[in-house]
Parts: sequence; structure tokens; C-alpha cells
Amino acid sequence: MTEARAIRGREELSFCILCYDAPCSKACGKCDPGRILRAMKFENIDLAAKLLPEDYDRSWVEEAQNACPVGVRIGDILDHLQKQKPQLEGCEGADQIDLSCDICGVRLENPFLLSSSVVASTYEMCARAFEMGWAGAAFKTISLIEMHEASPRFSAVRSPQGDWSGFKNIEQLSVYSLEENMGFFRRLKAKYPNKVIVASIMGRNEEEWEYLARKVEEAGADVIECNFSCPNMEERGTGSDMGQDPETVRRFSQAVKRAVSIPVLAKMTPNITDITVPALAAIEGGADGIAAINTIKSITGVNIDTLVAFPSVRGQSMIGGYSGRAVKPIALRMIAQLAGCKGIKEHHVSGMGGIVTWRDCVEYLILGAGSLQITTSVMEYGYRIIDDLISGLKIYMAQRNYHSVSEIIGSGLDSIVENDMVERDTIVFPSFRREKCIGCGRCYISCRDGGHQAIAFDEESRKVTLHGARCVGCQLCALVCPTGAIRQTKRISRQPKQN
Ligand SMILES: Cc1cc2nc3c(=O)[nH]c(=O)nc-3n(C[C@H](O)[C@H](O)[C@H](O)COP(=O)(O)O)c2cc1C
Repeated sequence: MTEARAIRGREELSFCILCYDAPCSKACGKCDPGRILRAMKFENIDLAAKLLPEDYDRSWVEEAQNACPVGVRIGDILDHLQKQKPQLEGCEGADQIDLSCDICGVRLENPFLLSSSVVASTYEMCARAFEMGWAGAAFKTISLIEMHEASPRFSAVRSPQGDWSGFKNIEQLSVYSLEENMGFFRRLKAKYPNKVIVASIMGRNEEEWEYLARKVEEAGADVIECNFSCPNMEERGTGSDMGQDPETVRRFSQAVKRAVSIPVLAKMTPNITDITVPALAAIEGGADGIAAINTIKSITGVNIDTLVAFPSVRGQSMIGGYSGRAVKPIALRMIAQLAGCKGIKEHHVSGMGGIVTWRDCVEYLILGAGSLQITTSVMEYGYRIIDDLISGLKIYMAQRNYHSVSEIIGSGLDSIVENDMVERDTIVFPSFRREKCIGCGRCYISCRDGGHQAIAFDEESRKVTLHGARCVGCQLCALVCPTGAIRQTKRISRQPKQN
């Protein structure tokens, strides 16, 4: 039953709600269970193992477990971690790894920035984030438009564990004036000269774009990000309406470039068929790089009693921007398209959309992002996610002998090929590892109802067998197996079809 226990161990961890000033850690005098569980939640298992003292004993966490407000069986999780410890690769050399990189020549101490949104709104917020290790912040977009915001303005789609799988907002731009924002920049630059301030701006005509660009440069911004992508604007013809029109993007990028000497990024909307078209227009207009993606137009759900979509603002709602975990596959696709596109690939691409863990970050880097921006997971978990982003990336690099982030950037782009280039002449069959199979029959159900009826299930013994002649090698069975008992066999040539 070890496999069943492993499943329960995973589930037990999902009950941890990541408390502020974790009561479990305060109650435990011997180690820091709150920090260990947080590392595990954010896929930083090697660090979690390192944080678990060598002489760990389950009796240490009795008090911690009693202090947990939701009764997580912390002892079970830490016992399991202790058993896994010897098989983990470890963190050797990670502390010495240098994560520095740059945005168009502006040095970043690591690739992680707050993306333009509420998480980067004020001096105090950004100062706190900088202290915690964020390399920079793209400030909440500054404009000359007066903001009227709706209440409430967010809606979340939750996973069964309660985490947000997706997040919708109907918010617009900064509620602080240009002068107030310039004050934030000046103070931040004075106190944190090595942190990077990206000033996100949005004008309505060339004069406004130029004016805002000049002002933020004067106030100390290191980089400008042109917001061509907010989907929530009250005023028509602004935000993503501009970003969907390549000529407008080109013209306004040009206006900003002629006003300043600092690097300019154009932030793209995903609400378009081909993101490379406006991105190329921005580059043509002189933009030094591209940032992507902003949020995806969405309706997260409808209250079936009131018949109103979420969030309801006095019985009405609107289409709003979707972000967080759910958008990562779309964002990754767009990053790969941008970073692989001639005319753009020679420029910086700042990636964002659905980043939660260091693994997500590595995937973005592999597909060509040169810096990484985050909002939704900061809104959900706080600035503290930076701890696991930094240590997770460092451990990954140390284990694989990378010496610089630049070695990772774009390293997997060649794996994305055109549809007609994917090899279709060989097949991999599933192989069932009996020792891991718990006889649940999930592979049988999925193959029967969603596949090619290639798996037989013996009801007496609860064992499965493969009907090789029927199997098409789709590997659906492996995807539904809860214990990882199904692996791939060696790839072999496909048998020619018998007529
Ligand atoms: C509440 C909220 C407010 C946002 N405000 C802005 C904004 O003012 N300017 C902007 O360029 N993007 C804004 N965004 C978009 C984010 O910067 C980011 O592009 C997007 O959310 C995807 O990243 P994420 O999945 O990490 O949140 C906002 C996003 C959210 C959730």
C-alpha cells in the first residue's frame, strides 16, 4: 500500500493553507515546518529536504500539528519527506549560483519582477518586495485617465484543493496620479539603486505617450513598458483595442522611443489571432523588446441562482482579464511564438502569465523569455513566493551545471516544430509496473471510453492487461494513472496497416 500512502501524502500537503506567520512553525521548537511545507507546495522539494534536520524525529512536530488551524497531519508529510531524502539530488553548490541577467542591457540581479498590477502600486509595496529579493517591479500602469473602478472586481476559479486555477479581474490602471507615481520611483531609486523599475504607461495619443515616457524617465525609471493590452478599459480605443491594431502599436511605440533613451518594451495582448503581428509592428516602431502576455478576455462563471456572471457589480458583470495558472499554456505558446519569430527573436522577451513556481519560470526561460513577471500568484500567496523562485532556480541550475541564466534562455525553442514536421512513423506502448499498480481501473475506464479499447480489466484480480494490436500509443492511460505505474516502452516503428 505504499503507493496509496504516497497519494494520501500528496493530498495531505494540499490541505496546508500556507498561513501567515505559520502557527506550526511557532509551536515547533526544533525545525520550521511552515517553511518546509511551503517549499514543498511550491515544488521545491530539494530545499524542503535540506531544511529538514538530519536528526528529525516525528515527536518534534506533535505541537506543530496541534497548532495547525486546519489539522494538517504534518508528521505524515515530514516522515515521507525524510524517507525521500536519500533519493533527492540535493542543493550542492546552489548558493554560489549567479542568477543575474538583463532587460535590454539593464542589469537584473535575478529574472524575477512583479508584473504591472496592483502588486506593484506604491513605494511601500515595492520596497517590501525588493527587500524580500524581487529584482524589480513593473509598476501599475500610469496614465492621464481618471480611474473609476468597480467593486467587487475579481473572481477566482478554484481547484478542488482551493488554490486558484484561474483568476479574473475587471480592473483598469493606477489610481495614483503621475506625480504620486514619480514620487514612488524617486524614493525607490534613491533607496534601491540596483533594483529595476519598469514604468508601465498608457497614453491615448502620441502627445500623451511622449509626455508620460519623458516624465517616468526623469523620475528614474530604468525601462518603459507600453501597455497596449489592458482588456478592461472603460474608455474605448485604449488598452487592448490599441494593441489589436498593428499600425497604432507601431505609431505609439515610435512616439515613446523618440521621447526617451531608456529601453522600451511593448506589452502585448493575447486577445488576438497572431501575437507576432502587433509585436513586429512595435519592433518596427523602435521598441527594444516585447512583454507578454496581458490577461485573456474571459467570463469565469455565472451564478446560477441570480443568473449574473462573476463578479457581480450590482447585478451586472463584464468580460474581464483572465490570469494565473490556467493561462500558462497559452502564455507559453505565445512566448515561444514571439521568441522564435524572425525580427523579434533578436530582442528581449519578458514573459508572464500563470507563473507560480520556479519550474514554471524555467519553462518560460527555456522557451525564450529573458525575464519573468508575476502578478496573480503574488496576489494569492504574497511576495514570499520569491524565496522558492530563487532557491528553486538556483538548485535546478546547480544540479544541471548551468552557470548563467542566459544558457537556459531559448534552449528548448527548437523542440517546437511545425505540425507537418512532427515524426509520426513510430509508436511507444504503455508498460504497466505491477508493483506500483493499485488496481483502481482508471486506465481501463479512460482507454475504454476515451481511447481505443486496448486495456482489459480482470474484475477478480483487478489487474489490467494490454491488447497491443489495438493500442495506438496515445498514453492516455499514463496520464490518468494516479500512481505513475504506467511508463512508456521503447519507441518502435509502426506496423504498416493491414488492409
Ligand atoms: C488585478 C490585476 C491588475 C492588473 N493590472 C495591470 C496593469 O495595470 N497593467 C498591465 O500592463 N497589466 C496588468 N495586469 C496584467 C498582469 O501584469 C499580467 O500581465 C497578467 O496578470 C498575467 O500574469 P499572471 O498570470 O502572473 O497574473 C493586471 C493583472 C491583474 C490580475
